[in-house]
Amino acid sequence: MDTIHIRGGSALFGETRIQGSKNAVLPVMAAALLIRDVSTLENCPQISDVRHMLALLESIGCRVRHKGHTLTIDARNISEDTMSGENVTGMRSSITLLGAMLGRVGEVTMAYPGGCVIGERPIDMHLDALRRMGVAVYEKEGCFTARARCLEGTVISLPFSSVGVTENVLLAAVMARGVTVLQNAAREPEIVTLCEFLREAGAVIEGIGGPVLIIQGGHELHGICFRIPADRIVAGTYLMSVLGAGGNIFLEDAPVSQMRAVLRTAQEIGAQIHISREGLNVIAGGYRAPVPCLKTEVYPGFPTDMQSPLMAVLACVPGTSMIEETIFENRFRIVDQLRRMGACIELRGTKQAVITGVDSLLGAQVTAQELRGGAALVIAGCMAPGETVITNRHFIERGYEDICRDYQNLGANIRIG
Ligand code: UD1
Repeated sequence: MDTIHIRGGSALFGETRIQGSKNAVLPVMAAALLIRDVSTLENCPQISDVRHMLALLESIGCRVRHKGHTLTIDARNISEDTMSGENVTGMRSSITLLGAMLGRVGEVTMAYPGGCVIGERPIDMHLDALRRMGVAVYEKEGCFTARARCLEGTVISLPFSSVGVTENVLLAAVMARGVTVLQNAAREPEIVTLCEFLREAGAVIEGIGGPVLIIQGGHELHGICFRIPADRIVAGTYLMSVLGAGGNIFLEDAPVSQMRAVLRTAQEIGAQIHISREGLNVIAGGYRAPVPCLKTEVYPGFPTDMQSPLMAVLACVPGTSMIEETIFENRFRIVDQLRRMGACIELRGTKQAVITGVDSLLGAQVTAQELRGGAALVIAGCMAPGETVITNRHFIERGYEDICRDYQNLGANIRIG
């Protein structure tokens, strides 16, 4: 049925463990391609994006095993350099395989990723950065071929700190001849995880966690066993739920050091936060304050992936809040769905949303249109008395291993349909 059914309006009480990070595991899986050996990844989330990435790796000759939360990738033999079909076009992060394939075999043919054509969600920065390393790109009928006789280390300055471009340059640079200096690199925690994986496997990278990465290419990489950190966006989603519905929850393993901007915002709204070595305790209820002006920003700012979950909460915070989206266009598609549940949200152009808190949302039939917007509808469903039915559950399953199990642990009345 591809639906989620929620009977909301009750506060949340309980505890749940936070799964491994989607945005960390996907580039690390791509990096495993660079290693002519067996890599073992622990704490991998069982989500559809991981299954698609595995299918892609298999299609080019990797031998993979996914048992529980452990993934083994044997990349000793790569047989193909062409990637197409649903697994590429359905998943934006398949673009990370571009840098990995260039690093490993020097050539790759791909369909444009993420189901978008150039112009809508472009890959121009990826291609420009790789061209500087000696890559030639040929485009034809929705596909492109990238080829490098020899990847050359160089100085690259990104016009914007793109997460995906930073990952691609890193993957190509560890295999390139000479030193690559990447300026204005993204500093998201997932970049740090990728650098740590590569470094443990034998790569030489300096400046990890900062805006300038210096990569000495050409070191032989070896197979390692590596643990994927917990997912900061999943933890943030559940945190927002208790802020919306009220209650007292414990999020085991929540990566609190990566969540500072989200924790700060939650406290401003009225959450009580207690951090321990085991995780994060959030208590909410009573007085809540609006957020007069919140901007999404690159890390360490407030993450764009948390924007829709925050909007669901603000829908019932008394007063007027304003959110400005600065990273992605078209990330306000949830607004129509929240309005169906009674929210009062006004859009100013494509970048600003003004939210006037209402007393309560009401259960309704709504549609998930993308991953984080879908998760935000689950939050709204927990907040709203009556029944909420969310269609297109598969979007949510791209990034949440079992969202109903987790919310049941937190005491919600929720089930798949
Ligand atoms: C990654 C995350 C995503 C998160 C985003 C920002 C993964 C799998 N996805 O996406 O969850 O929301 O970082 O934190 O890790 N852009 C261009 N040209 C390019 C590349 C990007 O114009 O060649 C634009 C994008 O359209 C977007 C902005 O740059 O407007 C940010 O994109 P980027 O940081 O690259 O995000 P992703 O790596 O796609």
